[in-house]
Amino acid sequence: MGWEKAVAVSELPENSRKVVTLKGNKILLLHQQGEIYAVDNRCPHMKLPLKNGKVTAEGAIICPFHRSAFELSTGQVAHWTPWPPVVGNLMAMASQPKALPTYATKVEDGSIFVNL
Ligand code: FES
Repeated sequence: MGWEKAVAVSELPENSRKVVTLKGNKILLLHQQGEIYAVDNRCPHMKLPLKNGKVTAEGAIICPFHRSAFELSTGQVAHWTPWPPVVGNLMAMASQPKALPTYATKVEDGSIFVNL
């Protein structure tokens, strides 16, 4: 674990997001409600990209594929593969819910750093 410089703060204004590659991992940075989050860009369900996932008012990101939802601050599963109807429930039964990896962030000298 160590702090990796990701982007300049100015590159991630409020309500924006950006995917960066750090130590070979695709990390999704989000600036939401005054907080900067860093999460794995791959959904733990089928490793598909989360980049275009909607963020709820409660601070969870919803995977655009089967709508699993994960808390941005902790990565905890809020919902596991509820979509599409019937098929989503079958997929949920066939797999164990897995948390989304999250990483600490800090702002220093005008840059965003991620601890990974
Ligand atoms: S790939 Fe994200 S919920 Fe299936």
